[in-house]
Amino acid sequence: MGQNTADPVLRIGLLGLGTVGSGVAEILQHNAQMIAERCGSRLQVVRALVRSGRRRRGAAARVATCTDPRQILEAEDIDVVVELMGGQTPARRYMQRALRAKKPVVTANKAVLALHGSELFALAQRCCVDIYFEGSVAGGIPIIRTLREALGADRTVAVRGLLNGTTQYMLGQLEAGETYADALAAAQRLGFAERDPRLDVSGRDAADKLCILGRLAFNSPLSPKLLSFSGIEALTPQHLAQAHCHGYRVRLLAQAHRRTVAGAAALDAWVHPALLGPQHPLYAVPAAHNAVAVRSLAHGDTQYQGAGAGSLPTGAAVVADLMDVARNLRAGVWGRLPFGNGRRALPPLPAHSCASAFFVSLQVQQRPGVLAHVANVFAEAGISLATVTQNVCATSLVPLTLTTHPTTFGAMQRALLQLRRAPVRRGTAQALPIAADS
Ligand SMILES: NC(=O)c1ccc[n+]([C@@H]2O[C@H](COP(=O)([O-])OP(=O)(O)OC[C@H]3O[C@@H](n4cnc5c(N)ncnc54)[C@H](OP(=O)(O)O)[C@@H]3O)[C@@H](O)[C@H]2O)c1
Repeated sequence: MGQNTADPVLRIGLLGLGTVGSGVAEILQHNAQMIAERCGSRLQVVRALVRSGRRRRGAAARVATCTDPRQILEAEDIDVVVELMGGQTPARRYMQRALRAKKPVVTANKAVLALHGSELFALAQRCCVDIYFEGSVAGGIPIIRTLREALGADRTVAVRGLLNGTTQYMLGQLEAGETYADALAAAQRLGFAERDPRLDVSGRDAADKLCILGRLAFNSPLSPKLLSFSGIEALTPQHLAQAHCHGYRVRLLAQAHRRTVAGAAALDAWVHPALLGPQHPLYAVPAAHNAVAVRSLAHGDTQYQGAGAGSLPTGAAVVADLMDVARNLRAGVWGRLPFGNGRRALPPLPAHSCASAFFVSLQVQQRPGVLAHVANVFAEAGISLATVTQNVCATSLVPLTLTTHPTTFGAMQRALLQLRRAPVRRGTAQALPIAADS
């Protein structure tokens, strides 16, 4: 750490000066004095790696930029590397290089951590430096610190989250009658969407975040490659209206809960558009917010809500991490907080064994015997029906909605395959999990 004035200086190299990078620069400019008083070091951005030195950078215009990563990763005048580029490559490679050069890393990159977090943390440990990542999940909500530290002595039972701002916003707009394309364009305009919005609408972004939370809360080796997840692309205003008629809202829910299967504890985790009833803890979360509800044995139910993304909320989370890095470097310590929370990992269930009650919507031909056929398909899949609602319609195809008692995703998949044959209209059968209230 540099010591050219009375206060020690933490010299920061940014990899990326986009939405979050600019937020970091702005927070450091506006709150410089307060931050120095609180962490005992001055935090100073030395330079930032960008793709194009010519882009106009608004609030971050005063930050020196470079296009050669060596000027950050191997530079003698950089103490800590902040990765805010996004994507897998070259972000992961640059983080590895920084760690090998014994520079701590702060990142908001959930995509890299979800897939390669274990490997990066093992490397950090070998190199005796830290990785901090508060900005990687739910941007401005301090959920990583909460799970790693505040709830560290407790046993987590369930984590449920609305973790993706784009889909959260879009579903609110679709409910209000907007088209999918207009809702997506507005989410991009407002800065909710990832650079590649397919990561948002496909559910992958939320899946990456759930993998990180699952790791911290349950020490579970969740991987987005194995997790059961889907997005909102196949949802129509009709699906939302049908759910609404039954008193539900549809939200992209990421959830993981401890379950006992065949006498052994396991983690039931998935990300899907799901129906939330008014009693669900996340039902009333506003469209622009993210939220996480945690149930743990000692604390009971706790809930965290706020801006899930954005330049300043995420920038402030990154700067708080930098303050911890400065404190650690001054104290000469590292590795105080592991990525997992212990040795006994909770194994994730395979996707087909995850379980939920479901809301099923179909279009069926209006003729005798159809209802019996549908009921038989569910019975053969071992699924018990809770309610059946058939709308009166003058057309030959009528909407039918069913709710089921809890069943496995695998059983529901088998039933849907059967239902997609006649006399149900091909392509119309859809099942969404109904989120349990408690
Ligand atoms: N946006 C949010 O609200 C938010 C919230 C939480 C977490 N995150 C995460 O934070 C990270 C950054 O997101 P962001 O929204 O700030 O991204 P962004 O606005 O697209 O900014 C990316 C920055 O990285 C630079 N960059 C990208 N690839 C590069 C390469 N190959 N070489 C050199 N520079 C490169 C870009 O340079 P140019 O400026 O020259 O293009 C830009 O400055 C991502 O991992 C994202 O998932 C974002």
